[in-house]
Amino acid sequence: TTGWIDIAAADAVPAGDVIGVEVGALDIALFDVDGTIHATDNSCTHGDGRLCDGFLEGHEIECPLHQGKFDVRTGKATHAPVNKPVRSYPVKIENGRIWLALG
Ligand code: FES
Repeated sequence: TTGWIDIAAADAVPAGDVIGVEVGALDIALFDVDGTIHATDNSCTHGDGRLCDGFLEGHEIECPLHQGKFDVRTGKATHAPVNKPVRSYPVKIENGRIWLALG
């Protein structure tokens, strides 16, 4: 499986929360929604907000800077002022680790 990278321990993300992980040039936000891990770029598409500093409610992350929101399952922008999706990544859990597909 080319393109999968090991990003964190499977239990690194607290339940219902978000963390930021930097791997090389990548800055990734990892979300736990009801035990399922989702991954997006950590940088908000609107400005300098980092999603890992935001507020996760259900499957939506609220940016800490201007309260724009994204659906963490798809990266879709769901609330102004964000209108561009954030990149989302396929995730798998294997051997106790979280893996990200860079595609
Ligand atoms: Fe995220 Fe403005 S920087 S909503």
